[in-house]
Order: sequence, then C-alpha cells, then structure tokens
Amino acid sequence: MAESARTVTPGDGRTAGPRRLKALHFASVAALGGFLFGYDTAVINGAVNAIRDHFQIDAVATGATVAIALLGSAVGAWFAGSLADRSGRLFAMRLAAILFCISAIGSAIPFSAWDLGFWRLVGGVAIGMASVIAPAYIAEIAPASQRGRLGTLQQLAIVLGIAISQVVDWAIADAAGGATEQLGFLSAWQWMLGVAAVPAILYGVLSFTIPESPRHLVATGRPDEAREVLASLEPTDVDTRLSEIQESLKSDRKPRLSDLKAKGTALLPIVWIGIGLSMLQQLVGINVIFYYSSALWQSVGINEDSSLLLSMSTQIFNIAGTVVALVLLDRVGRRPLLLTGSIGMAVTLGGAAFSFAQAQLVNGDPTLPDPYGLIALVSAHAFVFFFAISWGPVVWVLLGEMFPNRIRASGLAVAAAAQWVTNWLVTVTFPSLSELSLSGAYIGYTAFAVVSIYFVWKWIPETKGRTLEQMG
Ligand code: GLC
Repeated sequence: MAESARTVTPGDGRTAGPRRLKALHFASVAALGGFLFGYDTAVINGAVNAIRDHFQIDAVATGATVAIALLGSAVGAWFAGSLADRSGRLFAMRLAAILFCISAIGSAIPFSAWDLGFWRLVGGVAIGMASVIAPAYIAEIAPASQRGRLGTLQQLAIVLGIAISQVVDWAIADAAGGATEQLGFLSAWQWMLGVAAVPAILYGVLSFTIPESPRHLVATGRPDEAREVLASLEPTDVDTRLSEIQESLKSDRKPRLSDLKAKGTALLPIVWIGIGLSMLQQLVGINVIFYYSSALWQSVGINEDSSLLLSMSTQIFNIAGTVVALVLLDRVGRRPLLLTGSIGMAVTLGGAAFSFAQAQLVNGDPTLPDPYGLIALVSAHAFVFFFAISWGPVVWVLLGEMFPNRIRASGLAVAAAAQWVTNWLVTVTFPSLSELSLSGAYIGYTAFAVVSIYFVWKWIPETKGRTLEQMG
C-alpha cells in the first residue's frame, strides 16, 4: 500500500455528536447481519442432539447437518461480492434478510433430515452474504477516524449472536423440559431454529432506514446522492473526497472477479493477504471452542454441568475482549493488536496443548489431573480473550478496508469464501483429530498461531486513520 499516503490528522475526522450517531446507526444496521451470522452458526449447538433423535440419523448425517451451513456460507460469500457491485450493498442486505427469514422458518418445520439440511444450506448462503456485506458497507460509510470502531461493531454483533443463541437454546429447552420436548405446537429444538426469523425481519426492515454506500453510488453514476451521504456523515472536504472516490473507480467497465488477477494469471498480492488473514483466523481453532465446547471439555473428564458453564464463561471472555478491541482499534491501530493477539494465542494454545497431553486414564475415562485441568481452563479462556481483542474483529475490519474501491466487494468475497471453507475444514476435522490426539490437534493450532505472528509482521500494513482512497 502506498507509503506516501497521507494520514488523517486527529482533527480531520472529528464529527459532531449527531453525525457520529448517524454513522453508528448506519453501521449498526449493517452489523445486524453479523448478529444473524453469529446466531445462525451457533444455535445448532443446543438443537443438534434433538435433531439426531427426532430424525434417527447417525453421527455422520448429524455432523453434515451442522457443517452444511458453513459450505453454504462459502457459496454466499463468493456470490455476495458481484451481487453487491451489480445491485448495491442494500439490495444484497435485503436479499440476505429474506434468505435468513425463510431458512429460519423452513428449518423450524422440516419434513425430513434432507429438508432440514436444505434450509440450513439456505441459511448458510445468507450468513456468507452478510459476512461480506457488513464489513464492506461499514468501511465504505465510516469516516476514517472511526472506521475501526464502527467495523468492530460487526464482530461485537457476531459474538453477541453466538452468546444469545446459547442463552435462547438453554431457555427454550428449560421451558419445555428438554430440547426434544413439545412447547406449544412445536418441539423445543424447532423453536430454537425458528426464533432467528425475528432478527432477520428486523434486519430487512431496518435496512430501509439507511442509505446506499457512497462508493457504490459513485460507481453506479449517482455522484449527487453520494455527495449527500458523505456530507451527512462528515461535512469537511466533501468535494475532495468525492473526487478521490471517482478517481479510484475510474474505468469504463463494471468490476469483475477477473480484476483480482494481475496480468491475467496470478491473484494480486493484496488478495492473497486477504485470503491468508482469513485462513489463519480460522486455523487457530477458535470455532472448536464455540462449536464443540461440551465435547472438548467432556473428553478430558470435565462433567456436563461444568462444561455448560465453561461454554458460557468463554462467551463472556469473547464479548469482553471484543469491547476492548472496540475501544483500542482506532487508538493503537490494527498491527499492534494483531501482533499482541498472535503472541498471546500462541502461548495460550501451547498451554492448552501441553495440559491436554497430561490427561490420564482414570477408571477407563480420560481425566486432567491437578494442576493441568486448571492450566487448560485458564489457557482456553485466555486464548478466547486474545482472539477477541485481535484476530476476531481486526480481520473483518481489515477485509472491509484493505481492498481498493474497484475490487473491494469481490476481493472481500473471495477472502471471506476462503474463510468459510477453512472454518468448515477445521470443524469437520476436529472430531477425528481429537480422537487421534487432542493435544496433537492443539499443537497444530499453536503452530498456526506462530505462523500468524510472522504473517502480520511481514505482510500487514497499518491502515489506522487513512481514508479508503489513500490506501489504494
Ligand atoms: C470471528 C470469526 C468467526 C468466529 C467468531 C468468534 O467472527 O470469523 O468464525 O465464530 O469470530 O468470536
């Protein structure tokens, strides 16, 4: 990225209170897509055993019902880029909202396991779309000085979505007396999946209260509307910013996926960096903690009640860490946070690998003796915290802001699709890896955390405070 780029002086981006609120409103509506992303990926946790019993399917088919949403997300992310370029960021948001809604209703009243799989796939497509649209839209409307903070709202919404889905699962199962029990005209697990229709409708309706992204307005020949949106968010230098956007989009044809390639063959280095960031975010195994927490803890002898409590406490660390990132991102910058997070993750994952290696067989069951049980618990919580202050939010913020205007939506789409495929890969391999050796699996995640330190050191430029056009 251009080293000569001007940095924004602190006064440049300051907006008055109402303008800040407006930016917050616009970003929050887009971030609702993140909430649905978190809710829909994690809600299956509380429903999965009931689904297995209801349809009498085996472990492989049950696993497929869970994982299929992740593959759908890869597909949704891939297509969201060109859709957002062609029909607009708002159109893509509304389409995602409709897909979220019909998937929630379809999953709540499936005729068969296949039917459920189909609706989970549709939901996955919506999740993938939201994962691309939210960071792109937020980066494009946010004034440079607040872009990190506003971008982190998406991750905050994701982690709240994950945590709330777990509370909803628990509350519904509790009210019904079990996930398979009847509650009114549906079983508890059906309510768990169906409830997501409510935030989906809210997302669709609220999308009508926010404007189209100024970068998209310029790209589609509506500079006057773009000027209005820019001025409503930050009144200074509107004309300069408008012409910078026009300059950065200059070309007589519409953006295409092939724009991501240099000289017709290799992908542009910036696209590889996006893919690398995405893959490493998943390869440290964060979602093993969120998707498999109970199985993980039970496999080292921690009982079911405590493992439920542990999954709640990791959620709290996740939310708290994200709030810390929200406060720090525009002050200390992206690189220092990523580096701190990488080092912290390497140490804590190493701690987890080491303690899991100490598990002993007691009466035929694996158990973590003192003090290794404690080391494993502290390591897992500290790992989640380090991830939450760094790779969780920063990757989404960077993906939203690192690509030049012309290739933003498609660059982000390719990177996010790579992220969903990697998420899927980590998710489907964990059960067999942990059966072979839980500590071995964690040595692998540790190795990726170490690679992430080098990756950030070598490849990630600081983007704090620079406008999107200054980065191009
Ligand atoms: C990030 C990841 C997502 C993960 C979440 C956990 O958003 O992209 O896969 O579930 O963080 O907080």
